[in-house]
Order: sequence, then C-alpha cells, then structure tokens
Amino acid sequence: MTTKYSKKYIEHLEERLKYLEGVNRFTQQALEMSASWGDFQVSVNTLDDQSIIINEARARLKLLIPFKENAFFLVNEEDSSFYIYNYEPDDSKKYFLNEVDILIEDGTFARAMREHRPIITYSIDYKEQLFLHVMTTKSRVRGMFIGVLAKPGKDVQEASLRLFTIAMLHIANTLESFELYNKIKQINKDLEKIVEDRTSELTYTNKQLNKEINERRKADEALNKAFEELKAAQVQLVQSAKLASIGQLAAGVAHELNQPLMIIRGNTQLAKRKFQKKDNPFIADITAQLEMIEKNTTRMMLIINHLRTFSRQSQSNFKPIDVHTIIDNCFFMMSEQLRLRSIEIQKKYEAKISKIHGDSNQLEQVFLNLFTNARDAMQAGGKLSILTKNDTDPNSCDQTFIEIFIKDTGEGINTSCINKIFDPFFTTKDPGKGTGLGLSISYGIIKEHLGEIEVFETSSYGTTFKIKFLGLA
Ligand SMILES: Nc1ncnc2c1ncn2[C@@H]1O[C@H](COP(=O)(O)OP(=O)(O)OP(=O)(O)O)[C@@H](O)[C@H]1O
Ligand SMILES: [Mg+2]
Repeated sequence: MTTKYSKKYIEHLEERLKYLEGVNRFTQQALEMSASWGDFQVSVNTLDDQSIIINEARARLKLLIPFKENAFFLVNEEDSSFYIYNYEPDDSKKYFLNEVDILIEDGTFARAMREHRPIITYSIDYKEQLFLHVMTTKSRVRGMFIGVLAKPGKDVQEASLRLFTIAMLHIANTLESFELYNKIKQINKDLEKIVEDRTSELTYTNKQLNKEINERRKADEALNKAFEELKAAQVQLVQSAKLASIGQLAAGVAHELNQPLMIIRGNTQLAKRKFQKKDNPFIADITAQLEMIEKNTTRMMLIINHLRTFSRQSQSNFKPIDVHTIIDNCFFMMSEQLRLRSIEIQKKYEAKISKIHGDSNQLEQVFLNLFTNARDAMQAGGKLSILTKNDTDPNSCDQTFIEIFIKDTGEGINTSCINKIFDPFFTTKDPGKGTGLGLSISYGIIKEHLGEIEVFETSSYGTTFKIKFLGLA
C-alpha cells in the first residue's frame, strides 16, 4: 500500500502532537494550580504571619518556572523603599542585594515595576539570567520577585510567563487581604479594649455614684434628724422665753389685778354696810356697785385667762386669724404697764384688713415682745404707734400682703448692734432684765408663718419694726 505522507512528515507530526499534549497537560496543571490560589486566599484570615503566604507562593511559582535561586523584596510602608524579605537558598542574601543595587541603577528594576510582566536580564557577571516580576495589586505595589532562571529564558513557555503574571497578581492580592484582615483584627481588638475600658470605667462610675447616693442618703437622714432636733429645741426655746416673759409680765399683771381688786373690795365693803341698814333706800346704789364688781372680776378673769393660754406649751395651731385681734389682746395685757410709763398708744388700722393663716398664741408672743422692747426703749415715756395696711404683689395682683409697722419714739438701736438683734441671747439690757431671746424667737415664728420681720428704720428719734405676712384671699 502506498502512503500519502512521508515517514519524516509523520514523525514530525507525532513530535508536534507530543509537544501539544505536553502543553495541554501543563496548561491543565497550571489552571488547577491557579484555581487553588482562590482557596488559599479564602484562608488568609486564619494565618498569623505573611511568611506562610510568601513560602506557599514560592513553592507554586517554582512549579511554573524552575529557579536556581530566588528572593522576595517587599515595600516598606513607611518610606516606600524595598527591603529583602525572604530568599532561597540561605546564603543568597548578599548576592541578591548586589544584583538589585545594579538593577536599580540601570533602571531595570523601575521598568519591571512599570510593566507588570516578567522582565529577563543578565546578572552582573553575565553568567546567569535574572527573572524579575513586580508584585502589585490595582492600587499598590507590594514587592518584587527576583529569580535566577534554571534554564535559558528563551526555553520558558509563553503560557508559563502568562500564568506567572496571574500568580503574582494573586500573591499581591493575598498579601493585601492578609494585611486588611490584620487591620480589621487590630481594629476589633482596639474596639474590644475600648469597650472593656469603658465598661470598667462605667462600673467604677456606677460604684462611685452608688457610694455618693448612699452618702447623700445618710447626710439627708442626718439633716432630717438635725432638723427634728432643731424643731424640738425651738419649741423648748419658745417655752423658756415664754416663762421668762411671764416673770416680767407677772409684775405688770400684779399691778393690773391690784386695781380691779381694790375696786372690788371697796365696793363689797360699801355694799355690806349699806345692806346692814333697815328700810334700805340704797338698793339702786347696791345694784350699781354689784355691777361694778362683776365688770372688774370679768376683767381679772380675762387677764388670767390670757396668761394661762400664753404659758401653755402648745403645738402650732394654724388657722385664719385677724391680726388686729391679736394686737388688741396684747395691748389689753400691757395697757396698764404702758400707761404707767406714760406711753401713749396710737392705732391706725386698715379698715378691711385681710386675714392671715397663723397661730394666734405664737403671734401674741411676737407682738408682746415688740411692745415690751418698745416700752424698754422709752424709759421717759413716748408714743407707741401701730399701723396696719393691705398691700398687693406688683408681680401677681392676686396675692395680698399684710404689713404691720410698730413704731416707738425710744432711744433707737445702736448701729453696732443692728446686725445682732435677731441673734439668740443678744441683749443690751441689764442682767436679769432681758434674756435676748425675744427677737430671735419672734424671727423664727414669723418665718414659720412665711412672713418677714425687719427693722424698717431706727434713729435716736425711735425705731420702727415692719412685719409682712401673706394675706388670705
Ligand atoms: N424697739 C427697740 N428700740 C431699741 N432697741 C431695741 C428695740 N427692740 C430691740 N432692741 C434691742 O435688741 C435687743 C434684743 O432684743 P430681744 O427682744 O431679742 O431681747 P431683749 O429684749 O433684750 O430680751 P427679752 O426679749 O428676752 O426680754 C435688745 O436688748 C435691744 O438692745
Ligand atoms: Mg425683748
């Protein structure tokens, strides 16, 4: 049988087929290898060190192109310079550093960085062929691979070169992913630290706050206790001041009672004598004298009653009251004393005075003390005037105030004493004559009535005290 093709031609075809099968096998192998890069990149988040990436990369690159020696240069982030990261074999560091110095000098290094493809050049001694490939992502150059080719560059398959470029891109991307994962890890760590710090700060602040709250609570309790004690002390003060003033009042009262008693006795004696007579023509006189007796005993009873109310230790009993009634009661108790001291009383009362919310017993003490002080300031007699009036609040027309002015023509308050007169136990009176409690207790009572008391004016011509209360609508 004659054959159409020569033996040589068939041999050539067989050779070609073998070559293509080899290329095919290589391409398949390379494709499988590049597919496995993806797996590698996915697992970068579990790696501790980028040297694992570089070593793994080196092993795969060597499958694509065989190298006698190779080195990875990485970019220093701080100054963008290249430094040798890792090399093979162990004694090749100096060799690569020398070669790179020259490659930088003659511009080959820069060209490799620009071109993103393999660059093949000769070594310094022209004995070897050097293979350079930049390691770069789209955004940043990460390093450079340099290898000493194990076989001449012209024998390296085109497909290997292409795949090498793809592999370098993969390595660069993997390094970048690794770096980003690490950054995220660091940020997470920092965040955890911040959260931990903040939590412990908050726990500390919370503890401090609780401590403060407890301290405040304790301070509040102590304050409440002190307040209760103060209240009790004030009740006691009021009581002792009352007792002190009762002593003073007693003299006046004795005098007050003496006069009606004399009248009672005189009239009783007269009535007795007139009754002893037969056919009594004095029946009208006797009736008049008995009436006189009745009137004077009533007066005595009133005075005594007042004294009893005054000395009774009582809790506050607030109700609507008329200040005029209080003032009149005080005058009633003191009128005789004032008359004996030649002190004239003058009242100028507001016709329709508003009532106030108050405790009449306590307020009586205030006015008794003010009148006693006025009496003591007018040793040579004088005039005690009382003026009362309603007033309205300029800011709120609904609110009325009651103002009471107690004015004497006495010696006045010395300027050096003016700031002290409301202090407990401050007195300028002779020992035994004053306790110095009158005004301090009056001040407390007026405050309890939500009112104000002040020295309105004072001079050598006399003193005026002013008291202001909230009026009831
Ligand atoms: N109308 C006044 N004129 C002049 N001085 C006054 C007048 N009112 C008070 N003072 C002065 O204020 C002082 C204190 O008065 P306060 O009523 O507190 O005590 P006291 O009158 O001295 O004693 P107590 O009231 O206990 O009898 C008096 O000692 C006096 O010096
Ligand atoms: Mg007094």
